[in-house]
This record gives sequence, structure tokens and C-alpha cells, in this order.
Amino acid sequence: MNNPGLPELEQTARAYEERLVPALFQDVAGHLAEAANIHAGQDVLDVACGTGVLARTIARRYETAGSVTGLDLNPGMLAVAQSQAPGIDWQQGDAESLPFQDHSFDVVVSQFGLMLFPSPELALQEMYRVLRKKGALLVAVFDSINRVPAYKAMSAVFARVVDPAVGQALQLPFSLGDTRKLTSLFTSAGISAPGIRTLEITARFQGAREMALADIKGWFPFADIQLDEPTIDSVVAEAELALEPFRTDAGTIEFQVPVHILSAAKL
Ligand SMILES: C[S@@+](CC[C@H](N)C(=O)[O-])C[C@H]1O[C@@H](n2cnc3c(N)ncnc32)[C@H](O)[C@@H]1O
Repeated sequence: MNNPGLPELEQTARAYEERLVPALFQDVAGHLAEAANIHAGQDVLDVACGTGVLARTIARRYETAGSVTGLDLNPGMLAVAQSQAPGIDWQQGDAESLPFQDHSFDVVVSQFGLMLFPSPELALQEMYRVLRKKGALLVAVFDSINRVPAYKAMSAVFARVVDPAVGQALQLPFSLGDTRKLTSLFTSAGISAPGIRTLEITARFQGAREMALADIKGWFPFADIQLDEPTIDSVVAEAELALEPFRTDAGTIEFQVPVHILSAAKL
């Protein structure tokens, strides 16, 4: 999909919302929203909000929040976010150049975006810049793929059946799992001594096919990865074997995913 239009972007975003959010992202949003501990009247920004699961969770949980804003680069993601929660302020923009004045928000949150930015350091600087004094920054990233064997197995399936580059693409979301590297990113962005907590969430897919399709339909097209039906069938056949260790008696695929939550207060 070279230069996809809004309908194509929105179609992929809808698949992301239906296939990936409930299986993987929703539980983390609950943890981050709780950790954010927002008070009445506070203004909140969700950077790389995607289809908006975290911003929505925060808006629902803290009805007295002053405002909740979600920002993402991808207009398809924002179209789905808008359809899910029209009351939130959804804005298109780049995490590395946030379209907000200094000191605009009391809380800035971001889940599973940092590893996708060309310069995570610049994005952190921006998140810190738009925070008010004593404001809170909370960022969630996946642990390394070696600690998420189900995705390591799927990366190997895509590399074998499709192309090594596609296997590599599946590793990118897990590329900031090293906590020392994360701490030094924060430090170079001028944010000293972030707190780090690692929690384990349970990923749940209806089956191996659904787990494979979540990536194939829910974000591969954003990375210009298009698979035809025979290739998808081959991937699913291999995924059924590779994901056997994670199959429950009920036939679902379930596994633990360690997630690092980094937090810092603005001095
Ligand atoms: C894995 S999704 C996470 C979305 C959402 N936070 C969630 O938890 O479902 C990553 C998001 O980062 C967005 N993104 C990637 N690069 C970006 C950038 N430079 N600025 C803003 N958003 C970006 C993508 O469009 C995508 O919506």
C-alpha cells in the first residue's frame, strides 16, 4: 500500500482496534491510567494514542479531568479514535515536534509508541517540555522479545514463511526492552532518574490464526507489508505449530508479556 488513503488507513486502524487492543493493549491502559493518579481539573495528553484506548480509559476513569487530548501521526488511527470517543480532543501531530506550548499539561502518558519514533530521545524531550512544573510523565514499553517467547516464535514464522525483513519488523515493538538503555534515553532527554516498574500482563488471542491476523491486518499495512491469501494460510499453518506451547485447554493462545512503566515528575 504505497501512499494509502484515509479509507485504507482507517480499515487497518479498525482491525488494530478490534484485534490487538483487547488482546494486548487494553490491560496496560488500565494500569497506566491508575498509575497516572489524575486529580480534578488536570489536563492530560496521550502521545501516540493510536485508536485511543489509553485516553479513553483515562477519560472514563477521571470524569473530573480538566481535558484529555490524544495525539497521533496516523489519521486512520485518529478517525477510529474519534468514532469511539468523540468527546476527547484528538489531534494529528508528530511526537518529535508536539504542537503544544511549553507547560500545557499536568500529565503526559504514552504507551507503546516510544520504540517506533525515529528519535525516542527527542520525543521524550518534547513530552517533558509540554509538561507543567510538578507534572507527571508515564511511558510504557514492552520488554525485550527474548522475554516474550510467543512473539519470538511468530517473528521466526514470518521470517521463514514471508521474508526475514518481516520477521525483523515484528521485533521492532520489543526493541526498547533493556532498562539500562531506557534509563539512559531518559537521562539524555534531560529527565533524570525515572522510576521503572515492570508489570506482567496476559495476552489473549482466540487462537493462532487470530494472533497472526492481528499483526497481518492490524498494523502490517501501515508498514507497507501486504500478504496475499495463500501466504496468510501458510503463516497460519506454521503459527498453529509454533504457538502450541501457549495453547490453553480452551484452544486460546495465552502468554505473559512483561511491560516496563517509566515514570518521572517534572522538576
Ligand atoms: C503500537 S501503536 C500504540 C497505540 C496506542 N498507544 C495503544 O496503546 O493502542 C503505536 C502508535 O504510534 C503512532 N506513531 C508512530 N510514530 C509516531 C510519531 N512520530 N508521532 C506520533 N505518533 C506516532 C502510530 O501511528 C501508532 O498509532
